[in-house]
Amino acid sequence: MNTPQSGIFALGTSSHAYLEFDILDAKKRSGFASTISAIREPRTTTGGVNFVIGFRPELWREIVPQDIPANVAGFNEDIQGPDGFVIPATQHDALVWLSGSAYDVVFDMARSVIHHLAGLASLGEETSSWPYRHDRDLTGFIDGSENPTLLDAPSDALLKEGSAGAGGSVLLVQKWKHKSAQWEELPVSQQERIMGRTKLDGIELENKASDSHVARTDQDKFGKIFRRNMPYGNVDDHGTVFVGFSADQKRLSSMLASMAGLIDGTRDSLTRYTQPLTGSYYFVPSVESLRRLRHSKQDRD
Ligand code: HEM
Repeated sequence: MNTPQSGIFALGTSSHAYLEFDILDAKKRSGFASTISAIREPRTTTGGVNFVIGFRPELWREIVPQDIPANVAGFNEDIQGPDGFVIPATQHDALVWLSGSAYDVVFDMARSVIHHLAGLASLGEETSSWPYRHDRDLTGFIDGSENPTLLDAPSDALLKEGSAGAGGSVLLVQKWKHKSAQWEELPVSQQERIMGRTKLDGIELENKASDSHVARTDQDKFGKIFRRNMPYGNVDDHGTVFVGFSADQKRLSSMLASMAGLIDGTRDSLTRYTQPLTGSYYFVPSVESLRRLRHSKQDRD
């Protein structure tokens, strides 16, 4: 039985940091992977920090070839919509997502992770995030209503026992900057039409527009994913960190293609008010896979 990294499902934390790393020397990739796998969570019952560690799929395949499905790939090319809209590929080599109850512990641990990896990898992207009005994103809408429950989420997000990479998950991380001034000029009824849900209580609209966000990402069509989106940024420059896990990368990539208008020519109208800035896929291996790498480092040390 392979155990998933517990941070994937650790809801309720109010401070997050996403550290994306680039390896300095490709020849030292095994040393990098075992060093990152050896990072330990602080083991106190209060004030702890959750970790989710992910690798660029091609990198993980080089390190542990049998431990990832053959078709999982990095975000290696921009997605070009038919009308010129672009979802950019900004793939990095590894991700450490830290989450905790307060930013001080997350900040200290993030510094310690960067310190551990000094000389092996550079920090390509750092983003911190925090919840807004309990469960809303910065459009003001409730985000996550159609998420599976924590009972169902593992079967939607994790590779099944017996398959390559069992207990692992495919993760898509993207930063979407909001065009808040333009969004807030719209009447609420228009915002609701764009989202496909009511603003106050998140009720799905009866007759959803085909270019609404929930129609473009309909999980009955594309398959289930598990989202952990969070707001990021400052008063002037802010948006959503999209964090989505799936047992099958195709569900995530098809949703992006659909949002860009590549499936049937209809672009997600939410993308007219939000701009994707970054995009990476990571393979999030099971705890047992990370432990094996950690032990291989201890054997070498
Ligand atoms: C600026 C970026 C985004 C924002 C603010 C946003 C916000 C929302 C909101 C408010 C909902 C409705 C409530 C809910 O079910 O959660 C929703 C639904 C959803 N979003 Fe997004 N989203 C963003 C990007 C994305 C991306 C990039 C994907 C996929 C790659 C995605 C996938 C989904 C899915 C699967 C649903 C549920 C659809 C269903 O009803 O089956 N979202 N999103």
